[in-house]
Amino acid sequence: MDNADELEAIINSKMKQIKRKIAVMSGKGGVGKSTVAALLAVHLAKKGYLVGLLDADFLGPSIPKLFGLERRKPLSSIDGIDPVLSTKYAIRIMSIQFMTPEGVAVIWRGPMISKVLRDYLAHVSWGRLDYLIIDMPPGTGDVPITVMQEVPLDGVIMVATPHDLTASIVERAINMARTMNSEVIGIVENMSYFKCPDCGRIAKFGKGADLLAKKYGLEIIAKIPLEEKLSVFCDSGLIEEYDEDYFEGYLP
Ligand SMILES: Nc1ncnc2c1ncn2[C@@H]1O[C@H](COP(=O)(O)OP(=O)(O)O)[C@@H](O)[C@H]1O
Ligand SMILES: [Mg+2]
Repeated sequence: MDNADELEAIINSKMKQIKRKIAVMSGKGGVGKSTVAALLAVHLAKKGYLVGLLDADFLGPSIPKLFGLERRKPLSSIDGIDPVLSTKYAIRIMSIQFMTPEGVAVIWRGPMISKVLRDYLAHVSWGRLDYLIIDMPPGTGDVPITVMQEVPLDGVIMVATPHDLTASIVERAINMARTMNSEVIGIVENMSYFKCPDCGRIAKFGKGADLLAKKYGLEIIAKIPLEEKLSVFCDSGLIEEYDEDYFEGYLP
């Protein structure tokens, strides 16, 4: 076996210990992929499942901040790298941010990123998990391709917003996933409506995600409002303390 085969064999055996592997994707940046991935991980962990969360956004890692873990360092052991455990629900988290000094960007070309991603899949000690949630970077480039090639995904959740512009970009991601034989299991509509803390007024901005769901025969799994409270919990690293669960009753 050469090195690549060996790595693939290790990845396969690791992934066999994980019952469900779900990627959260969008194609577009800033639509709330990381927020949705984190909220989904928390939803599952609250239900008592063993959950891992892989931050696959090497250029814009944001999972550690959502959980208030920016300063943590994962420990290495003979079995590999131990994920960092989240404070409240012990979600097993891995991110490139744990490996880089604060504020320093990773400056790598695509092939290098894919290589490090493969190393993560092979050398992180996830252990037995019920769910591994993979937070994808924006776009349909090297990382999503590598994840879809290397991980036998159970499904991809697409994050869209009500805006037509987002819908047209998410459409590309849906087509990419289908071309790579990854099943799209549904759409999460983020920033679905506005929840005003003072007037309680709720307004919806557009129909982009609804039209997308209809066109591709997909279910809208959850609708998450644009809300100051969620933003504050995210910014202060307290996403595990956020008390709304928009995935209630849903298991991916
Ligand atoms: N529903 C929402 N309400 C308020 N703020 C949100 C919401 N969803 C995401 N945000 C904020 O928007 C920013 C971008 O979200 P993020 O999840 O990092 O997007 P992505 O991963 O798609 O780039 C973050 O600061 C996040 O806290
Ligand atoms: Mg992100």
